[in-house]
Amino acid sequence: MILSIESSCDDSSIAITEIETKKVLFHKKISQELEHSVYGGVVPELASRLHAQALPSILAQCEVFFPHLKAIAVTNEPGLAVTLMEGAMMAKALSIALKIPLLGVHHLKGHIYSLFIEQEAVLPQTVLLISGGHTQIIDVTAYDMMHVVASSSDDSFGESFDKVAKMMGLGYPGGPLIEALAKEGNATRFDFPVPLAKSPKMEFSYSGLKNAVRLAIEAQETLTHQDRCDIAACFQKVATEHLLQKCKKLFKTHRIKSFAMVGGASANLYVREAFTNLAQSYRVPILFAPLEYCADNAVMIGRAAIEAYHRGDFSTIRTLEVHSKSLLK
Ligand code: KG4
Ligand code: ZN
Repeated sequence: MILSIESSCDDSSIAITEIETKKVLFHKKISQELEHSVYGGVVPELASRLHAQALPSILAQCEVFFPHLKAIAVTNEPGLAVTLMEGAMMAKALSIALKIPLLGVHHLKGHIYSLFIEQEAVLPQTVLLISGGHTQIIDVTAYDMMHVVASSSDDSFGESFDKVAKMMGLGYPGGPLIEALAKEGNATRFDFPVPLAKSPKMEFSYSGLKNAVRLAIEAQETLTHQDRCDIAACFQKVATEHLLQKCKKLFKTHRIKSFAMVGGASANLYVREAFTNLAQSYRVPILFAPLEYCADNAVMIGRAAIEAYHRGDFSTIRTLEVHSKSLLK
């Protein structure tokens, strides 16, 4: 079995996965959303102190599995340096105490392997990863063969939902709050511009759209519930249209065998439906991660770690490093 730890942002999570069968034997996650919501975003120092309380309390429930462990996996890049350290230090302590090796797992590979929980990987996939930290299209051929086709030049998709929610005083995380309000909104009331609509570049950008939303909010004398719903609906429509336009271009120019969506924001049902329709119109199969594993969790880290384990991708307490920024390879 592998014990996996995730602490790259504001979720403390530990999982136990059986290597041979890929079965998830244990999973617990403690989210810090409530603690950060008063600030409208994640406060790294607070997040790290909350991990220091939550991770040991989850680990205490895993002791029965200790004799069966073959490796300790931990998210070591990318993420908030101070929170990655909490997981990495726990992993190193366990590695010494149990005399087993470490596996450093790239957080984005974890999101990609959330597609294959308790299953064999089906590759190649062209993956759209939409989270709080990233908006990327990645060609995935194998665990160690990933090519980034497009990225955001500024804010990420999920981050733009968080910022729009903050501007309307809704709390954190903004994604599910905006999605819920958008259901009651008129999606034609505001005419926000679709980012990079005329640009041939395969790139994403959300800061211009965020500013357009800010101006619309400031133009309202008082922000009523209906105003919030209408802004949410118009923003969500345009934010999704931007993803669709760039991906449509890819569908036209690339031979895509199978398309997949992962990351916290891929839990958005409006986005899922729009992409299901797009993939169907190009007769390309589409995969989604199970809703419970879209947001950060240690199960996806454990699933990716099985691949690393089979490749002998081990680290020691001296070689395992954390990196707040890191490119996917
Ligand atoms: O993958 P994740 O849990 O953490 C990162 O690796 O960043 O993604 C969290 C992000 C947040 O920005 C959150 O607002 C967004 O995903 N999110 C959503 C939805 N649920 C979560 N964005 C849009 N619609 C949603 N339903
Ligand atoms: Zn994530």
